[in-house]
Amino acid sequence: MLLQLSTWQEIDVYLERSRGIVIPIGSTEQHGPNGLIGTDALCPETVARGMDDKIDIVVAPTLSIGMAQHHLGFSGSITLRPSTLIAVVRDVVQSLVRHGFERCYFLNGHGGNVATVNAAFSEIYADSSFNRQAGNEPGVRCRLGNWYDGHRVRALSRELFGGAEGSHATPSEVSLTFYAYPDAIKNTRMSPRIAPTGPILDAADYRRRFPDGRIGSDPSLATPEAGERLFHAAVEDAVEDYRRFLGAR
Ligand code: NI
Repeated sequence: MLLQLSTWQEIDVYLERSRGIVIPIGSTEQHGPNGLIGTDALCPETVARGMDDKIDIVVAPTLSIGMAQHHLGFSGSITLRPSTLIAVVRDVVQSLVRHGFERCYFLNGHGGNVATVNAAFSEIYADSSFNRQAGNEPGVRCRLGNWYDGHRVRALSRELFGGAEGSHATPSEVSLTFYAYPDAIKNTRMSPRIAPTGPILDAADYRRRFPDGRIGSDPSLATPEAGERLFHAAVEDAVEDYRRFLGAR
């Protein structure tokens, strides 16, 4: 069930049978010449809804703006600085804990969020460590799962795109958005075919190194058909990881 389409009474009833929640988290940033600016938020949101069709979960509203300062050299990109994102994640988790949620599974679509979201988890655990009264209670557990990192998705991306997958504006993530939003498909020629690779520093440096926004990828290979296969693989990977997380002590 989607949190936003539920009533508070329905959430109360859900909490009697589960303490888990899935929170899609992404980014709003350029994704090269044919990738949608919302790619990193749309992908985990799409996968989370696929999970919802298979298992009994609550899906929270997507946190669509993440840590993407290095993309600010491209129009349309929006970022939170790391300290702001840490505060957002902490407040979201504390709100959910207030109602009785104990397992917060962040389904992530953006590599640039990983370090910051894990730092937010450390802040959350520090909150309970400082609180002696919390010492005898099971407490909240958080996990960050990347939709693109499961073994099924990794194997399928390799099979479909091999060395053209790259690390930003990948044909896999662009395919998934083309499957979910066919009206937004763009056909764009790219040169060079495979984008350069290199380190990520600040926005001006990024634009200099990666002039069209891609890193190491050829997303002109993206198709909605590939996206559909990746969607099913990602849902299976995410369901498996979420179940493992719920069962862990
Ligand atoms: Ni991305």
